[in-house]
Amino acid sequence: MTVLLLALLMANGFQLEKCRAVITGASGGLGAEFARQLAPHADTLVLVARRAEALEMVKQELSSFNATILCCVADLATDAGRNEVMTFLETHDVRPNLLINNAGLGDYGSFASSTAEKTRTQIELNITALTMLTHALLPLLCESAGNHALASMATAGVLNVSSLASMLPMPDLAVYAASKSYVTSFSEALAIEMAPKNVIVSCVCPGPTPTNFSQTAKREDGTDTNREGQSLLRIPPSEVVSRALMALQQREACVFPGVGVSIAGRLFRLMPRSVMRWLLKRRHGKE
Ligand SMILES: NC(=O)c1ccc[n+]([C@@H]2O[C@H](COP(=O)([O-])OP(=O)(O)OC[C@H]3O[C@@H](n4cnc5c(N)ncnc54)[C@H](OP(=O)(O)O)[C@@H]3O)[C@@H](O)[C@H]2O)c1
Repeated sequence: MTVLLLALLMANGFQLEKCRAVITGASGGLGAEFARQLAPHADTLVLVARRAEALEMVKQELSSFNATILCCVADLATDAGRNEVMTFLETHDVRPNLLINNAGLGDYGSFASSTAEKTRTQIELNITALTMLTHALLPLLCESAGNHALASMATAGVLNVSSLASMLPMPDLAVYAASKSYVTSFSEALAIEMAPKNVIVSCVCPGPTPTNFSQTAKREDGTDTNREGQSLLRIPPSEVVSRALMALQQREACVFPGVGVSIAGRLFRLMPRSVMRWLLKRRHGKE
């Protein structure tokens, strides 16, 4: 009987209905799309980003749904900003049962020519913010999962937005790709740690997706990225997000949205590192 109950618990994933979600980087791109797709189901959505007006626009767009939508303006690349999120949740008495760590940025160009500031911001946002917000919210997530320990569906989750780049040591995107390797590895380890507590941890590894990402990653001197082959991998933000939410619902630890990205992700995982370095060197040499 106990075994049957455990099997039932393990088989069922996160339920979106009535979720109370914190979404970072929700003022545009994939984060705003997470808000759009969750709004019909959610009880509460806390949208976090730096640009207050852009957050308000997303909130306006979702005003026809029953969900309570709150905008939390914070710079997650700083300790102060991360603390503001926690204070905001306390002040508004929100006890989230879902954290979507989506905010992130890249930087196109060589490491040697990068600015220390953008490099530090990438690490702060892509790694530190994701890790420390998860750490700060885990007690609440565990509490939510614990309250429903006998329910047939999990009621707490963390969804981390990584990248296909997490599978590659990418020249001219070195810090970004390494930061996303951290996100994928951290998420997969945490998924195992949190499974007995019935907190689902999933990570999504999108390929190139049409958002503001490229604009932000471009350097002021115009340094851009090599887009060769990207058209085979590109899918719309709506498909990335629906696949990511499906991963949570199906307890999948790591997903690669889209056929092209899914094939590439598997190939990169299996490819010997020496072969990968040789291919990346050839590609880099052509630029
Ligand atoms: N688009 C792609 O090709 C692609 C591919 C793979 C993975 N990803 C990942 O997907 C995630 C979302 O990116 P996106 O494509 O949607 O890019 P985006 O359109 O540039 O959106 C980035 C979001 O992060 C927020 N953000 C940036 N810096 C922040 C900070 N310091 N504090 C708080 N929020 C901050 C931005 O809002 P504010 O400017 O208002 O702060 C914005 O809402 C990122 O983790 C990215 O690495 C994207």
